[in-house]
Amino acid sequence: MRTTVGIIGAGPAGLLLARLLHRAGIDSVVLESRDRAYVEHRQRAGILEQGTVDVLREAGAGRRMEREGLRHDGIELRFGRRRHRVDLPGLTGGRSVTVYAQTEVCKDLIALQLEEGGPLLFGAEALAVEGAEGDRPRIPFRHQGREDVLECDYVVGCDGFWGVARKAFPAAVSRVFERSYPYAWLGVLADVAPSHDELVYARHDRGFALLSMRPPVARRRPCGEAAPLSVESFVSRLYLQVPADARAEEWSDDAVWAELETRSATDDGWTLERGPITQKSVTPMRSFVHEPMRHGRLFLAGDAAHIVPPTGAKGLNLAVGDAVTFVRALVHQRETGSPGLLDAYSTTCLRRVWQAERFSYDMTTLLHRAPDATDFDARLQLARLERIATSRAAETDLAEAYTGFSLD
Ligand code: APR
Ligand code: PHB
Repeated sequence: MRTTVGIIGAGPAGLLLARLLHRAGIDSVVLESRDRAYVEHRQRAGILEQGTVDVLREAGAGRRMEREGLRHDGIELRFGRRRHRVDLPGLTGGRSVTVYAQTEVCKDLIALQLEEGGPLLFGAEALAVEGAEGDRPRIPFRHQGREDVLECDYVVGCDGFWGVARKAFPAAVSRVFERSYPYAWLGVLADVAPSHDELVYARHDRGFALLSMRPPVARRRPCGEAAPLSVESFVSRLYLQVPADARAEEWSDDAVWAELETRSATDDGWTLERGPITQKSVTPMRSFVHEPMRHGRLFLAGDAAHIVPPTGAKGLNLAVGDAVTFVRALVHQRETGSPGLLDAYSTTCLRRVWQAERFSYDMTTLLHRAPDATDFDARLQLARLERIATSRAAETDLAEAYTGFSLD
């Protein structure tokens, strides 16, 4: 099998990359080790930066997102039983974010790829990347019990943190920067309307809580009931800071609701609506960057190269930035003959990546309580939050990073 760009992994990085290449008239093959249902049902974050929304729209992949996604013009910070709203467009010259789940982005991109794009093979596990330093890199892979080889001009490893692509970098060129956090997130999905119409980030002495949501889903009414045939059903997405070794099964639904209520409580009579919890899982928190993001004709994109803690909701948006940067560079080479942008790929991406790492770290340490935190640390967090609430400069800094830096 032969192609121009061999892509390992059909998460958001690999799928968007394949879509953008297709639109630019460059062929690719995507190898994904899991099956389609697995990829389409993984629960991940759900906040799209303005730039991500623009890219999906320009890639012709934004129709359902435009219909179902929720534009959010603000977020709320809660601390000391008070609330402070951050007006995103007012502070950033009109930029906002869109609530639309990553799983939905993946479903839309998969459908388009299967309909219009190059091959996307599920159940195809890349075993290695060979020959990155030459001009014909190869990906040996296993598909439906048979071994095969994908020969490429370029390989992009979009295979996430646990993938094989990063392992093909020689130890002598690889540098890893990482930090783990002494806590995790318990995430739940609940069939109940959100209790606030914007996202709520709450800092409490017992730990962090986040009230988020998913766009309402239309569900068909059971037969025999009166019209309308479908009803809108609301979904809340809620998170609690839990110990790093916590297990989701340890948390009863009542305990989840009680803790969310305590941590997001205000003095102004606001209440949290409860509803049936349909899913619970624990996500570890880690910051990780692999430098460089390119070796010869092998490029890394998305979680294969960098991980952020989820507090800033930057993971998917960073993956989008990498995919856009790679395609621009390849198109530039085709049009001008110059490999300049491909050579600059790692430096260009890492500039954005480190800004997102900084922001995600700041948001995380601003809002979470470390197990060894002192009273001094708690007071400092409150002072940092107070600063955001009272200084337009500090608030603008947060709003600019939250809505995302320009891809240009
Ligand atoms: N061969 C083929 N596919 C592989 C292999 C392999 N050897 N190893 C991993 N994969 C696949 C995984 O099954 C997964 O579907 O690569 C894909 C990587 O997808 P993601 O983990 O979603 O990573 P990425 O596309 O970079 O997306 C980044 O996802 O993890 C979240 O928070 C993160 O939002 C961010 C986004
Ligand atoms: C989510 O809705 O999943 C979500 C929202 C905001 C975050 C992280 C996750 O900061």
